[in-house]
Amino acid sequence: MIEPWRVGVLFSQTGVTAAVETTQLNATLLAIDEINEAGGAAGRPIEPIVYDPASTPRRFRTLAERLLIEDRVRVIFGCYMSSTRKAVLPVVEAARGLLMYPTLYEGFEYSPNCIYTGAAPNQNSQQLARYLFRHHGNRVVFIGSNYVYPYESNRIMGDLVRQAKGQVLDEMYVPLDPRPADLERALKAVSRARPDVIFSTVVGSGTAMLYDAYHRAGFDSSALPIASLTTSEAEVAEMRPEAAAGHITAAPFFQTLDQPAASRFVAAYQHRHGPAAAVPAAAEAAYFQVHLAAGALARGGGEAPEQLREGLTGLEFNAPQGQVRIEPANNHTHLWPRVARLDPTGRFRVVWTAPARVRPDPYRVMQELDPEAGHWPGRVEA
Ligand code: ACM
Repeated sequence: MIEPWRVGVLFSQTGVTAAVETTQLNATLLAIDEINEAGGAAGRPIEPIVYDPASTPRRFRTLAERLLIEDRVRVIFGCYMSSTRKAVLPVVEAARGLLMYPTLYEGFEYSPNCIYTGAAPNQNSQQLARYLFRHHGNRVVFIGSNYVYPYESNRIMGDLVRQAKGQVLDEMYVPLDPRPADLERALKAVSRARPDVIFSTVVGSGTAMLYDAYHRAGFDSSALPIASLTTSEAEVAEMRPEAAAGHITAAPFFQTLDQPAASRFVAAYQHRHGPAAAVPAAAEAAYFQVHLAAGALARGGGEAPEQLREGLTGLEFNAPQGQVRIEPANNHTHLWPRVARLDPTGRFRVVWTAPARVRPDPYRVMQELDPEAGHWPGRVEA
């Protein structure tokens, strides 16, 4: 009998980031089913063991231990918030396992036991900042959820603002599980500061509260947009379309991308979860990283981290966003930066696409903003 490849899957189905993490779970299981229908990974059926870590770092850590020690898996697909990745990674390292992490994050991290398939700051913060400074201005207010990713992402955005001789007028944090009044208070401070742009690092269920409170307060998104890296289709699905319209996100994938691999992925996802299902970049990375891992198992000869890393070296995959591969120097992924703006129906319209995929550079301290003043390569959409 062929031995199945048992893998762990840790995405929250409950708690503050359940909406986006559920899309990551669904996309992981979609990829596993596709691989199994095509004969398995290196001929072995993939057998997922799925737990709900409830958007809390402690639960993530406990369940990672259960997967690695009791269930005896070596590979875990999982984590959205950086606080949960930081809770899981020491456990994965101690057990000589591998975490495959499909979420944008703040960079400045490397582990031989982690493969990062979401965007690093040189693949999203930098492109978003350029777009904002060019089209809206460089006087910025930061509003974030109160945990590590927003602090670090704001530090990077602050460097970009200062490099452009702009100003961070205010920096505010709301609880991870906020009440509408928390966002209303933050927006009162925005009114006083009169910035060109709000940079939001609010995650999860607080996101819709922020955009709804902004809309109710009568702000105009064409004059003062909210720009974010964490407001995706999953969070927009929890807002009224008029609250979403005009705001801006940078990510490697948007559900509306008009290219064959993206359309195939979105159609397969919506076939399983309904025609209105949101399919964000976090789900796309969750999907392609399973395909990469399956390819690596076949090439590397085993599921130990060093074998999978060996198998990933030079492996290309035609992901929904475009061709991707893992950079062996830092275990992050070559990705396709894009900037999109939400239209009046609440759909992302891509307004800028990188001319080529971008090498991950997670330790980059200063980001190149506009090396040749006035010249910014990339495809600008009408
Ligand atoms: C995140 O916490 N990496 C979004």
